Amino acid sequence: MQQDTQLTPPQPMEQNQRLVFAVNGERFELSSVDPSTTLLQFLRSHTRFKSVKLGCGEGGCGACNVLLSKFDSKLKQVEDYKVSSCLTLLCSINGCSITTSEGLGNIKDGFHSIHQRFAGFHASQCGFCTPGMCISLFSALVNSEKTHRPEPALGFSKLTTSEAEKSISGNLCRCTGYRPIADACKSFAADVDMEDLGLNSFWKKDAKLQELPFYDSKQITTYPEFLKNEYKSTTVLNHKNKSWYSPLSLEELRSLVGYDSAENGVMVKLVAGNTGIGYYKETDRYDKYIDLRFIPELSAIKKTDSQIEIGATVSISKLIVALKEEKIDDDLCSDDDMVLKKIASHLEKIASESIRNVASIGGNLVMSQRKNFPSDIATVLLAVSSKVTILTAVKKEILTLEEFLKKPPLDSRSVLLSISIPFLKPTKNGYSEKSNTKVIFKTFRASPRPLGNALAYLNAAFLAEISVGDTGVVIDSIRLAFGSFGVKHAISASTVENYLVGKTLSVDLIYEAVKLIRYDVSPENGTSHPAYRSSLAVSFLFEFLWPLVDTDGCVNTSTCTSPGVVSRMASDHSETTTLLSSAKQVIESSHEHYPVGEPIVKSGAAIQASGEAVFVDDIPSPLNCLHGAFIYSTKPLARVKGIKLKSEKDVNSVVTFHDIPNGGDNIGAKTILGTEPLFADELTQCAGQRIAFAVADTQKNADMAAETAMVDYDTEDLEPPILTVEQAVEKSSLFEVPPFLYPSQVGDFSKGMAESDHQIHSAEIQLPSQYYFYMETQTALAVPDEDNCIVVYSSIQVPEFAHSVISRCLNIPEHNVRVITRRVGGGFGGKAIKAMPVATACALAAYKLRCPVRTYVNRKTDMIMAGGRHPMKINYTIGFKSNGKITALHLDILINAGMSPDISPVLPLNMMCALKKYNFGALSFDFKVCKTNHSSKSAMRAPGEVQGSFIAEAVIEHIACYLSLDPGFVRELNFHSFDSLRLFYGVGAGEPSEYTLPTMWDKLMKSSNFDYRVETVDKFNKNNIWRKKGISRIPILHEVSVRPTPGKVSILPDGSVVVEVGGIELGQGLWTKVKQMAAYCLSAVQCDGTDGLLEKVRVIQADTLSMVQGGFTSGSTTSEASCQAVRLCCNVLVERLVSLKEKLKEQTGSVNWELLIMQAKMQSVNLSASSFFVPESTSMRYINYGAAVSEVEVNLLTGETKILQTDMIYDCGQSLNPAVDLGQIEGAFVQGIGFFMLEEYLTNSEGLVVVDGTWTYKIPTIDTIPKQLNVQILNSGHHKNRVLSSKASGEPPLLLAASVHCATRAAIKEARNQLLSWKGLDGSDSMIQLDVPATMPVVKTLCGLNNVEFYLQSLSSSS
Ligand SMILES: Cc1cc2nc3c(=O)[nH]c(=O)nc-3n(C[C@H](O)[C@H](O)[C@H](O)COP(=O)(O)OP(=O)(O)OC[C@H]3O[C@@H](n4cnc5c(N)ncnc54)[C@H](O)[C@@H]3O)c2cc1C
Ligand code: FES
Ligand code: FES
Repeated sequence: MQQDTQLTPPQPMEQNQRLVFAVNGERFELSSVDPSTTLLQFLRSHTRFKSVKLGCGEGGCGACNVLLSKFDSKLKQVEDYKVSSCLTLLCSINGCSITTSEGLGNIKDGFHSIHQRFAGFHASQCGFCTPGMCISLFSALVNSEKTHRPEPALGFSKLTTSEAEKSISGNLCRCTGYRPIADACKSFAADVDMEDLGLNSFWKKDAKLQELPFYDSKQITTYPEFLKNEYKSTTVLNHKNKSWYSPLSLEELRSLVGYDSAENGVMVKLVAGNTGIGYYKETDRYDKYIDLRFIPELSAIKKTDSQIEIGATVSISKLIVALKEEKIDDDLCSDDDMVLKKIASHLEKIASESIRNVASIGGNLVMSQRKNFPSDIATVLLAVSSKVTILTAVKKEILTLEEFLKKPPLDSRSVLLSISIPFLKPTKNGYSEKSNTKVIFKTFRASPRPLGNALAYLNAAFLAEISVGDTGVVIDSIRLAFGSFGVKHAISASTVENYLVGKTLSVDLIYEAVKLIRYDVSPENGTSHPAYRSSLAVSFLFEFLWPLVDTDGCVNTSTCTSPGVVSRMASDHSETTTLLSSAKQVIESSHEHYPVGEPIVKSGAAIQASGEAVFVDDIPSPLNCLHGAFIYSTKPLARVKGIKLKSEKDVNSVVTFHDIPNGGDNIGAKTILGTEPLFADELTQCAGQRIAFAVADTQKNADMAAETAMVDYDTEDLEPPILTVEQAVEKSSLFEVPPFLYPSQVGDFSKGMAESDHQIHSAEIQLPSQYYFYMETQTALAVPDEDNCIVVYSSIQVPEFAHSVISRCLNIPEHNVRVITRRVGGGFGGKAIKAMPVATACALAAYKLRCPVRTYVNRKTDMIMAGGRHPMKINYTIGFKSNGKITALHLDILINAGMSPDISPVLPLNMMCALKKYNFGALSFDFKVCKTNHSSKSAMRAPGEVQGSFIAEAVIEHIACYLSLDPGFVRELNFHSFDSLRLFYGVGAGEPSEYTLPTMWDKLMKSSNFDYRVETVDKFNKNNIWRKKGISRIPILHEVSVRPTPGKVSILPDGSVVVEVGGIELGQGLWTKVKQMAAYCLSAVQCDGTDGLLEKVRVIQADTLSMVQGGFTSGSTTSEASCQAVRLCCNVLVERLVSLKEKLKEQTGSVNWELLIMQAKMQSVNLSASSFFVPESTSMRYINYGAAVSEVEVNLLTGETKILQTDMIYDCGQSLNPAVDLGQIEGAFVQGIGFFMLEEYLTNSEGLVVVDGTWTYKIPTIDTIPKQLNVQILNSGHHKNRVLSSKASGEPPLLLAASVHCATRAAIKEARNQLLSWKGLDGSDSMIQLDVPATMPVVKTLCGLNNVEFYLQSLSSSS
């Protein structure tokens, strides 16, 4: 059992008024700290260690992870664990050592093997998540070294592959799709099969350990010696009128809490791990912070004969270890052992490891008791009849957990001291002592992600004592606890408990019990998915009781795992060892244009991993820099009468449209299709619209001021807002689609319908929005310069446009503005139009206040203002032959564009480009781009294309269902011939040899073993009741167009090369491809030393005054266009250099690059060349092809969908860099999984986004991606009109994720057919639509919210 590991004994108070800690081995001492300061705020604004990134500020992303190390002076041991620095209070780290990613290694001292392997496994794209990932892995490595496992082979660690994968399960990455990150992590594991590791830069064919950067477990000292000697626990730290106390005894705590002084209005905050602020964002300021962690009674875990007592500040991780370690030798007590271990494994699914390491059990229960937090801990502990001890102003009392939860909320000065779990034996309170009894305990939770960091829709824990009677299994006692389902706190289902006790289990008994459970588990009004949550209660109770029915001998076995029982259930409860089973990447690279075509490591990957890569918010603040935060409207259409701040003194200025200089426009964004105002003027146009920009001395103060600002609205005499597309159509509120953007119809729809044998009329699909979830939120820094000039650093995909918007807003000439962008921490379209107002607001504030102004928009505001993907409503009518051949398709599509045009009028064209992947015979459509009072929707990766491609699949599946045909057959039947492709796509279709889809389709069938797997899926479905599988293979066509792009290449006197391009590095590897292209093209000079040119090329930041007409970085083609622009520059330079080289060669026999350049400079050769690549109009558009097979398994009890395997094949032409393209393919696919399966971007009835953080918006994590992911990049050879025969990869693969959705639909159909048979109905189910995203509630609803009842009913009636 875990011992109380108290830190150093108390020191006299006066010695302890300082905070001493280390960061990456450097000593820090502070004597005055605002106690509300987080470690992240301190590191980012007071140190040079910027690798801790702010991704969410609520513990949900892992970008801010650091390793925290503590020294236990008694045990002489260092304890190391990762924590979220965004939630850790600086005052709480006294005596601790912090290691950030820069501390592992850096450019100066050399990178750590973690950094090198992340780079070499291509595991970093934008790089914003990477330092946090590295720390997560490092923490796992450090702790594995402390285990007593056998020494691993040299270069490996003691980590297992399963632990390696799980180490990053609490970290989000929006770019990579996780597979390469998992490989980088697994490469350290002792049990890794090196052959399983994916594409990397260390070996080409055979995996060799010695080629991996060497891992030395002793390389880093996490706790410096000097700190060991001077550590003192902080007892008090003052800052202005605020103090931090660390009492060392209950007496001290009592006097500090000051029950008597409560009336004086002193705001007291008790603190343990402080993770609670991740959920309940703090807008109050406290006077006294009291750290509870040093009070012995609160931090110990004690075992007695009758119970385990857990101090309230014990962290979840510590408790897990203690419960797992618990070994009660007495045979009689093995039930306790089992119960404690199951509690531990439930706790492992709570939050993420970096939270669990500090989150206390007491803090969790207090949050649940006081603020109705949907706790797992309360539920699990309720099931085992736990008790709590609390200390209030008057007394210390012991209550049952149930009593505690039901009490009125604890006041802020009452303290939860401990929690006790009573043992079942030997005291056996309430349990019979019959020898043929058995205790069963199970816990359950259904949440969007299996491995946690997702609150449960419902959690449950059941404890029963059963015995075998003459007629079967009798329930002697039972405790059924449920929580997190939209109820104030965990409850025990007493109605069902009472009903079951003393009864013999039977089908009928379970049927009655599950019917009753719906009364006990009934979510309160306003809870999302109430029926789903109640149905989960039914499922879990069924899962608990069902294995006990009708299975002889089960009761006497310890785990109830006789095979017969297991196969009837949805899950086998066996611990899965690894999250990902395997992955394969096949690349066919071409060496024709070396180093173009090589899978070289992404430029800057190592500095991204170490966290030294500079993002906009990492640029040090200039002197007197202020910070801004947006105040946005919460009403869709209202007059703004005024804005009232909570405290005027915290703010320097509130900037509104009134501050726009004379002659300037109220403009925040522009496209060729229109503009959007920077701030609402008289009227707000949507909820989420910018109204003002609060400017303060720190980002925290600005955020707080904006968050607490009260806006006074007036809606009198205003028309009601337009909130639906139907209302927009009714009021003719539409954006015009210019004729050149309106797609062309194909053929004659009436004729096509006349040729059909069957018709389906007016079927409807609705598609929702999606949020970008770039890991770096919107950010900019504006610095006023001399002579009315301004320099703006912006994280933007379109600096040229921001430049022009700023100039128009400030009414200054464009040459007064300079926008600089070095790198963007994830864009996906969201940093295009939507980044302009952020840059412009900073520029306006800086212009007004005559000082630098920056902003880093917090996640909530970002989510509310972002707009995201276009929601739409589609109606279709189809005509088709009896064999499934489509003769005509008509679509009526209403696109919700929001308040301003943005790029919305482009959507029809984009949608059609991807929808036309099948030969629909005749195709007609009517698009309406609706202007509504919603935030304007913008481009998001594959904007329109993903919806178009999905609609085509929905049509195919509808026909297949109608005709009872295999959807795969209908797909193939309607594939294009090259002639029909040409008819639908015109010149974009290219040459017949470029139509690679049919070949890829067949290739994929073979490589994925498709036919065999279809059979296996069928067999599985026949043999399993509660799990059904589905498999689907889909093709994609995605047309892109290449746009004009500038480039500039300059050779410096030492032979190094500087390149500027119009495109922006977003993580998509643009710089890497550009570098390769420059090296390839310059090597045409053919002198010595050009083979090392790649190392000599640096691509530099985009600067709108240095490179004009930079254009958009979007549409997947910027990399190739930028490469082509560079190629043109290099050609010019080569031409200028070749004659000189020849001359020198004649003179000296051989010439190397450096000499050539030196001579060229001396002879005044112009060593800089600019270009503007303009693609030919006849070949600027082309089609990308791909295909994917996905296989899924749906759990019919919970609605969970597991993606078992995906096989993809994608035509990259001759890839410019297969590693980069592979990353784009996998990353896009996983983002597509998010759209189709997980991400709900919901608004309230007024259009205000309500899903506004990591708690509610669930992007894929490592535990939700395909367990097996196989990707083949096809090299389809020569393409004469493409840049070195390459094709795009950024967006099209996202469309392939529809294969997961289609496979899910197939599995659900199986479930529904089974349900029909339970209902006693014949035939096949006619389900047509599966919503996007197909979340657990959606899937379960289609599988039958009452499927358990129907099943039991069917059994009951058949017997
Ligand atoms: C990202 C994330 C995901 C999470 N997911 C889950 C989940 O899936 N399931 C789940 O059950 N929980 C989840 N949690 C909640 C987590 O368990 C709690 O935040 C944590 O246990 C609180 O403990 P703490 O020590 O950090 O409390 P603190 O944040 O320090 O305190 C929380 C509150 O309790 C008060 N308090 C703390 N200790 C005491 C005490 N001893 N006596 C009186 N008052 C006290 C504090 O004043 C404060 O008001 C999650 C949290 C995060 C951040
Ligand atoms: S920023 Fe701390 S977890 Fe996201
Ligand atoms: S590389 Fe992970 S978020 Fe961009």
